[in-house]
Amino acid sequence: MSATEEQVDHIKQAVERWNAGPVAKLLAKFPEQRAKFVTASDRQVERLYAPEAATIDRYAEKLGLPGEYPFTRGVQPTMYRGRFWTMRQYAGFATAEESNQRYRYLLEQGTTGLSVAFDLPTQIGYDSDDPMAAGEVGKVGVAIDSLADMETLLDGIPLDRISTSMTINATAAVLLAMYIAVGEKQGVPPEKLNGTIQNDILKEYIARGTYRFPPGPSLRLISDIFAYCTEKVPNFNTISISGYHIREAGSTAAQEIGFTLADAICYVDTALQAGLKVDDFAPRLAFFFAAHSDLFEEAAKFRAARRLYARIMKERFGAVNPKSLMLRFHTQTGGVTLTAQQPDNNVVRVTIQALAAVLGGTQSLHTNSKDEAMALPTEESVTVALRTQQLIAYESGVTNTVDPLAGSFYVEKLTDDLEVEAEGIIKLIDARGGMVAAIEQGFVQKQIEESAYRYGQSIDNGERVIVGVNKFTGDEPPTINLFEVPESTTQRQLDKLRGVRASRDVARVEAALAAVKQAAVGSENLMPPILAAVRAYATVGEICSTLAGVFGEFSESTN
Ligand code: 3HC
Repeated sequence: MSATEEQVDHIKQAVERWNAGPVAKLLAKFPEQRAKFVTASDRQVERLYAPEAATIDRYAEKLGLPGEYPFTRGVQPTMYRGRFWTMRQYAGFATAEESNQRYRYLLEQGTTGLSVAFDLPTQIGYDSDDPMAAGEVGKVGVAIDSLADMETLLDGIPLDRISTSMTINATAAVLLAMYIAVGEKQGVPPEKLNGTIQNDILKEYIARGTYRFPPGPSLRLISDIFAYCTEKVPNFNTISISGYHIREAGSTAAQEIGFTLADAICYVDTALQAGLKVDDFAPRLAFFFAAHSDLFEEAAKFRAARRLYARIMKERFGAVNPKSLMLRFHTQTGGVTLTAQQPDNNVVRVTIQALAAVLGGTQSLHTNSKDEAMALPTEESVTVALRTQQLIAYESGVTNTVDPLAGSFYVEKLTDDLEVEAEGIIKLIDARGGMVAAIEQGFVQKQIEESAYRYGQSIDNGERVIVGVNKFTGDEPPTINLFEVPESTTQRQLDKLRGVRASRDVARVEAALAAVKQAAVGSENLMPPILAAVRAYATVGEICSTLAGVFGEFSESTN
């Protein structure tokens, strides 16, 4: 037995004596509050954690140093001492004018990156005047029909200095092309553009629902974006592989890691099959996770995800560029944890969750506003949400040292256990033929539904307390002024769309759409013809219906 193992064994015996002695004596008079303590993901939590050989002996292999493989302690050597995470509030509603005003407001208040929320018609590829768009124009995000809208959306925002995230998936290629075209109009060449396109269609089939085309063509569009950006837009993150929506649908923390990294494996395989080289495109793969309220489990989740991803990229795909091995991620605090009851409680929940993300080493963060369980945030509520990030960054002290939770017996054990459980989930996906097959079999969705059911039951039977919901209730919900999308939104958007159609060069649009169709039928990269089409002011709907004419449309029922 090594000296360390002897030490660990000695401590283990001491803990056993402690449990059998003082603890047992106290419990006889003063029982603990619950027979079983579990995390938000139903993981058993021990009364006390003590060092295990792995924590001491295998530091290099299990933890490593910040900025070095396996990146458990963070992707940057100095982390927040060098640069805080990007404070990036997800925003967008009504027409491009209103959203542009909100972005300018947020930048004035101190956000350090943009995050665009698009309305459902834009996300699924219908113009605002399409019958499919009825009732949804500008509702859950900004309505973007053509390049003219994108120019308005980004008016006065220097794209060579601000990084922009776009939550867009099925129609990602079109919106990315519009962003590049706006950059050109601002005199910013594509290679100077910084940002992220979410571009993660698999989680749309699993949990979010804004898909349009079948998996095959969707994966082709994604790898076309990888190939195009690797060459032309090298500082743009080509995908934000999302665990957020999987967690919001009710998965456990380990499933959030496991399913998200299984999605990543599918995207990497797709790109390799398209002939790309892993170290060419992998450095620009990015991720997106949720931060829920079990602070230590969430911080450990991010540490486990980083280490597991680094191992997968190195061992499974043979990546050698250190940037290919780094899991860089954005975090959004858990939308489903927000309550309509006692909305001020949400400020505290978001603080705990934001702290978990920071202690877990996030690169970018959105903090939910206290009213978002009921409506889009007001300026007042989104400002409090942003100030929460600024208080953690500037006043809490947690950014002064890198990965401050390291060495915690509890957090390291959680990190190890979450990594093992997530790796087991990936094995289950592999055994089912990969993520597309597992989704088509309904396996992933069922796993999430079962977790969601268990979590919901634990609240309903009172095992799990949600303050203001199943305990400490009773207050009348205070009157809180909620944001409303202006009634005039749809009409103004339709008027603008009509104006664009009337003033553009119809022949140029038709030729551009024909070129998109030809590329879709063939195997050439779709980005160049889509870029030419958006420059001609072809609309999202026209381009997507052209693609749908070739690719077909995905619907749950036919698959
Ligand atoms: N020392 C030196 N350099 C450092 C540093 C340090 N300590 N910290 C950061 N840097 C560098 C980085 O290396 C980077 O430089 P590079 O681009 O040359 O590599 C630069 O500073 C910027 O840092 P990051 O890349 O870490 O930060 P970004 O904010 O630019 O990117 C990201 C973060 C996670 C990689 C990116 O993908 C991102 O911003 N994602 C955001 C996604 C998002 O906002 N999604 C919203 C989704 S909303 C949604 O879907 C929910 C809805 O459906 C309800």
